[in-house]
Amino acid sequence: MTLPYALDTITVAQIAKFESKIMKILITGGAGFIGSNFVHYWAEQHPEDSIIVFDALTYAANRASLASLQNKITFVEGDITDREAVDAVMAGVDCVVHFAAESHNDRAIADPFIFTKTNVIGTHTLLESARQHKVSRFHHISTDEVFGDIPLNEKYKFSESTRYNPRSPYSASKAGSDHVVNAYFETYKLPVTISNCTNNFGPYQHPEKLIPRSIIRLLHGQNIPIYGEGNQVRDWLYVKDHCRAIELILQKGKIGDTYCVGGMTEEVTNLQIAQKLIKALGLSENKIEFVTDRAGHDVKYAIDWSKINKELGWQPEHDFDTWLTTTVEWYKNNEAWWKETANEAESFYKAQGEQVLTK
Ligand SMILES: NC(=O)c1ccc[n+]([C@@H]2O[C@H](COP(=O)([O-])OP(=O)(O)OC[C@H]3O[C@@H](n4cnc5c(N)ncnc54)[C@H](O)[C@@H]3O)[C@@H](O)[C@H]2O)c1
Repeated sequence: MTLPYALDTITVAQIAKFESKIMKILITGGAGFIGSNFVHYWAEQHPEDSIIVFDALTYAANRASLASLQNKITFVEGDITDREAVDAVMAGVDCVVHFAAESHNDRAIADPFIFTKTNVIGTHTLLESARQHKVSRFHHISTDEVFGDIPLNEKYKFSESTRYNPRSPYSASKAGSDHVVNAYFETYKLPVTISNCTNNFGPYQHPEKLIPRSIIRLLHGQNIPIYGEGNQVRDWLYVKDHCRAIELILQKGKIGDTYCVGGMTEEVTNLQIAQKLIKALGLSENKIEFVTDRAGHDVKYAIDWSKINKELGWQPEHDFDTWLTTTVEWYKNNEAWWKETANEAESFYKAQGEQVLTK
């Protein structure tokens, strides 16, 4: 694949690299949820490229997500905070797509320091190595959570110009990483791009997250635990739509720019998601239980994705309900993938003292 750039942002030698037929792409966190979906997407769309996955295989990773790609990718187990390991894998790389992170808000409350270490120090380590190795593109995956939250009764949305206002250890660490990425563009002219996306859903998502956990519990005949009153609003993005957005940013995005990426949901609450899942599985309504809310739980996120739509021609392929049905089917058909991690996720919530309030 050829990646076009504005001439003033990178050197001619860097551009020449992209004109060669094969691109060496380094995907960090490629054994996690979005990363593994992106590895599948990229292998399918760009079979000529050389794909290296670099992942520390934390609890969030699942090697089985990449099993069918065994002969098409190079997998390197390593930690993004380990400069030596990062340098070894960065040699000859043209493009970095950086997903590796600690990503679960609940875990950040229980153990915040690893979030700063992985998300800030890890990203910085990668950036410095990418600079030394003169990579032609560093794309950083970030979150809309860096913008804080929106009061439920407000209709405005986050956009690329929204002021950062992170409110949790997770979002603060992602905000920190975004700032370091931008600093490397301003200071060293490293050719970076950033995408801030909303909550993703789809295949290969860890069973600790709302949608897979709910589906799996329903499949086991259990209730869906909903935080507080379930009125939190998220702007759900199907993971494959997200992968396509990243591809477009790599192909046509402006160096140094940020792109907000969101879904096609109209103010859907967590409670409504639970109800939709119950319906999709043909069950009755009494499958919901309310549990103690997460500390500092943001109530609403919503993203204005008009910039990527206008400039790069991106939009989600389907609406939320269609993709939700696809997702339910995937979890129904892939029990072997989630069986073990679903038990681990339940143990995690039990250890956190999750308590049922009412049914
Ligand atoms: N999932 C979402 O809804 C969402 C929304 C917005 C942004 N994001 C961002 O997208 C990215 C991917 O999220 P995800 O949901 O796929 O995360 P995930 O938790 O499913 O996967 C993260 C991956 O990173 C790896 N990893 C963690 N620490 C590492 C380290 N020190 N070195 C190397 N690898 C390490 C893990 O082993 C895992 O494979 C993250 O940067 C996250 O902040 C996610």
